Amino acid sequence: MVTLKSENQIELMRESCRIVKETLDFVGKNIRAGMTTKQVDELVYRYITSCGAYPSELGYQGYPASSCVSVNEVVVHGIPSDRVILDGDIVSVDITAEKNGYHGDACRTFLIGNVSEDKKRLVKVTEECFFKAVEGLREGTPLFDIGYAVQTHAEANGYGVVRALTGHGIGKEMHEDPSVPNYGKKGTGMRLKAGMTICIEPMINMGTYKVTFDRSDGWTVRTADSKPAAHYENTVLIKEDGVEILTL
Ligand code: MF3
Ligand code: CO
Ligand code: CO
Repeated sequence: MVTLKSENQIELMRESCRIVKETLDFVGKNIRAGMTTKQVDELVYRYITSCGAYPSELGYQGYPASSCVSVNEVVVHGIPSDRVILDGDIVSVDITAEKNGYHGDACRTFLIGNVSEDKKRLVKVTEECFFKAVEGLREGTPLFDIGYAVQTHAEANGYGVVRALTGHGIGKEMHEDPSVPNYGKKGTGMRLKAGMTICIEPMINMGTYKVTFDRSDGWTVRTADSKPAAHYENTVLIKEDGVEILTL
């Protein structure tokens, strides 16, 4: 069920989303080579709880941490561990925070030290995919125009668009309808309505779009060819005349 948020609910979403954004800024200032992904998770837990919010990934369907920390070939849902972050890695940190009953959700892919030009370009194009998708977005836009914009830009750059996972609505639940794919046909899908809050989250692979799901930990998603992947996400409010990006 798609939920439309009232002005009061939107105000609460703004607060959760502001905390998510500030947490990612804090991670960006502190993440460095030599840290383990678990140490990144500790930064996230500390910052979000210090804001009086809850890191709502923790315990979500049994997820064991406060963040998803996905290095290089890990696309999403990397479980924080003793894996050491190395110079030249790209590390996506995807977090959610819940305060007063509403969730915010965003992800950034950080460049660690001396990163190769091809990885840098992957991260840059993935961010561009998001901004292409929100360009002109407003009430009445067909939902799959989002995926069309992401896919067009990613594939023009020779990259693979992950299909096995999508963006989503968000609010009282971390994952609400509708599903927001990163691929699609222009002019199709439901028309967006003012008051919808959705997460737009391109997951872009340097090589094949195909991914594998780790059966032993139940979470980790990797590229099928082990080439790097990037992820960028914001929570977006649809308005009559445009969008408000709540996690920027
Ligand atoms: N933040 C993720 C998303 O963008 C969800 C993470 S799954 C969890 O939808 F298990 F970590 F919560
Ligand atoms: Co997320
Ligand atoms: Co999301």
